[in-house]
Formats: sequence, C-alpha cells, structure tokens
Amino acid sequence: MTVIGSSGTPRSSAQTESRDIALEARDLGHAYGGREVLAGVDFQVRRGTFACLVGPSGVGKTTLLRCLSGLQSSTSGSVYVGGDIVNAPMPGVALVFQDYSRSLMPWSSVLHNVMLPLRANGISKQIARAKATRALALVGLDDVAGQMYPWQLSGGMQQRVAIARALAYEPSLLLMDEPFASVDAYTRADLEDLMLTLQRELALTVVLVTHDIDEAVYLSDQVIALNGRPAQVADIVEVPLGSARDQVTTKSTAEFAELRARVHGLVRGSRGKSS
Ligand SMILES: Nc1ncnc2c1ncn2[C@@H]1O[C@H](COP(=O)(O)OP(=O)(O)OP(=O)(O)O)[C@@H](O)[C@H]1O
Ligand SMILES: [Mg+2]
Repeated sequence: MTVIGSSGTPRSSAQTESRDIALEARDLGHAYGGREVLAGVDFQVRRGTFACLVGPSGVGKTTLLRCLSGLQSSTSGSVYVGGDIVNAPMPGVALVFQDYSRSLMPWSSVLHNVMLPLRANGISKQIARAKATRALALVGLDDVAGQMYPWQLSGGMQQRVAIARALAYEPSLLLMDEPFASVDAYTRADLEDLMLTLQRELALTVVLVTHDIDEAVYLSDQVIALNGRPAQVADIVEVPLGSARDQVTTKSTAEFAELRARVHGLVRGSRGKSS
C-alpha cells in the first residue's frame, strides 16, 4: 500500500503497513455552528513515533486534538486508533493539557492526584497506588514529592505530575496540547528531553501540539503542519535526526536549521513538498 501525503506525493516505504499505524485522520472536518474550522484533514502517525502538530494561532490545533481523542465528535470524516474508528474516548489513549494548574486537584496529594482516575476506573487502591508510584518515578518524582500537594511544587514539577497521571493509565497513545507552554525555557527543555526519553523507553506513540517550531523539530519523527481556513494539512515533514538528540548539538546542525526553515515556511503559509 502506498500512503499519499496531503500534497499528493507518495510517502516513504516503512510507514505503509496499516498495522504500523497508531493513529489516522481520514478526511476529517469540524465546524462550530456553521463555521468550518477543519476540512479534509488527512494524516497517519506510525506506531511508536513522535509527531508534532504545528500551525498558526487559532488554526484549529486544539480542535483537531480533541477530535483525535474522541472528546469531541468530528462533523465529517473519521479518526482511527489502532485501526478502530473513534467515536468516544478510547482505552489506551491519554491526554495532557497545557493548563496543569486547572487539571490537578489542589486538595489532594500528588500521589492521590495520579491515583484518582485509576480509582475512578475501578482499579483497587493497592494497584492504583503501585501504578501511580511507578508513573511518578518515570517522570522523576519520588515518594516525598508524592506526599506533597500540587501547589507546593514548581510549574515544571506540576506538569510532570500531569504527565505521570497520563502515564499511569499505561497508554499506547499520548495526546498533548501545548503541554510546556506555561513553563520557563530551561524547564521546557528538561520536559522535552523527558518526553523523548519516555516515548522511546515506553515505545509510546505521542502526538503533541505546539506553536514552537524548534520544539516540534527537536521532538518529532514527523511534523504535521496545519494551515488555511478551514485548516488542512499543509504538509508532513519527516525529521530524520536519529534518536540520540541533544538540546545544544542537535539544534546546532545544518539539518536541524533546514528542517526548521521548512516548517516555518509551512506555518507561515507556503506549501512545501513532502519529504
Ligand atoms: N467551542 C468552540 N465554539 C466555537 N468556536 C470555537 C470553539 N473552540 C474553538 N473555536 C474556534 O475555532 C478556531 C480554532 O480554535 P482552536 O482552539 O482549535 O485553535 P488552536 O490552533 O488550538 O489555537 P491556539 O493556537 O490559540 O491554541 C478558533 O477560531 C476558535 O475561536
Ligand atoms: Mg490550542
């Protein structure tokens, strides 16, 4: 099977088997009232890869992520997770939002915040505690942090808690909407590296929305650029930077600069060619 990118160019070979596709949007459209925000959105994300969704402010990135998660129904087209059509939130899919301060319960300890959704899904206290402790360890938070309240932690640590809460579900697909937009640049770099490590170690498929083009190229195996009104996929840029990435050396390479320039052009409106 040949997969055709949004610009009609055949895409490369390894992504062609449907069992390798974790997530697919097929001719997806969404309208609020009579106003079309997304139209004819088509892309696939390969299993165990990192994809970033980029596009101008207000283009429809959050709307698309909500449709992908099943939290919001699309008005046309379909979403498939692991080959199954999505009509509602799916098991194995977790979401992380930008605003960690609103998603964490201030009156519950960090550990209980991570346990809460597991308990709500009927998991026993003992197992929920073990899963939550393991998830907190994965994001670098120990038992002492687990006993604290979210408001006692820095913004970056609170976002780690939100990531741990998503990981505690043991998802295979993680959807993230501008998860690092509210933290400072140093914390952001740490969280980016944490996500790269987690994605590879847990063999997760990650789809992350960002407006930061450097972040998108640094994290991604593929960058999906949205543009237009209604929004479509302007192009999908493959990022062959390898798995060992470093904030300084990777971002200093000519290859990184070339990819960044390409994505920048797509976000600003010029359509590129599929890689
Ligand atoms: N619930 C809603 N009802 C009506 N219009 C909405 C709703 N949510 C979003 N919109 C509109 O749809 C468009 C796309 O919004 P969306 O939040 O998906 O864009 P975005 O790319 O995530 O923006 P940002 O970069 O600011 O996060 C915007 O014009 C927005 O005003
Ligand atoms: Mg948004």
